[in-house]
Amino acid sequence: MSLQLGDTAPDFTAETTQGKINFYDFLGDHWGVIFSHPADYTPVCTTELGRTAQLQNEFEKRGVKVIAVSVDPLDKHHGWTKDINETQNCNVEFPIIADEDKKVANLYGMIHPNASTTATVRSLFVIGPDKKIKLIILYPASTGRNFNEVLRVIDSLQLTANHSVSTPADWKSGEDVIISPAINTEDAKKKFPKGVREVKPYLRYTPQPDLS
Ligand code: BEZ
Repeated sequence: MSLQLGDTAPDFTAETTQGKINFYDFLGDHWGVIFSHPADYTPVCTTELGRTAQLQNEFEKRGVKVIAVSVDPLDKHHGWTKDINETQNCNVEFPIIADEDKKVANLYGMIHPNASTTATVRSLFVIGPDKKIKLIILYPASTGRNFNEVLRVIDSLQLTANHSVSTPADWKSGEDVIISPAINTEDAKKKFPKGVREVKPYLRYTPQPDLS
């Protein structure tokens, strides 16, 4: 049975480019992103890890710890990291797991045998401070992921974890959000002092509440 939203993210201990890491210790009370790619020294993967490194500050601002998974060995990771930094004009600061025995890949269902029996697909999990899985995305090897979309979803997840709202299609941080249908309009007006805009009784917007 593959991992699903709301499941507890499996814990593990693994060798990484930053030494042996226990996943839960690494996460602490933070949000986390764990993501796999098919192989080191491949072009799309090089751009993906580079983009993640370029966005390091954005992940930090949101209190998100990032860790990558590859079934290649540690010496390859170190050599390839130099290439990523050189070609993508970045500095990879997050650890890359050397998952040669595929322990982590199998725990997270990152190998899809009908796509490839050996390589991991492009899996990405967002994990909340409660260690529950909040987002799963899966891309094929041929398609690099959009890491701005990952940040956008994290913004939504962190907002909706704290307020009785959800975010509409294509929402970006700062835009109006949708008030939960569980709250009646009278209560919504008290709960959301920035205002309530009712389009339909079930479709009501309010300006984005402050995060803290
Ligand atoms: C790539 O990263 O470019 C890639 C890796 C495996 C299969 C196809 C593309």
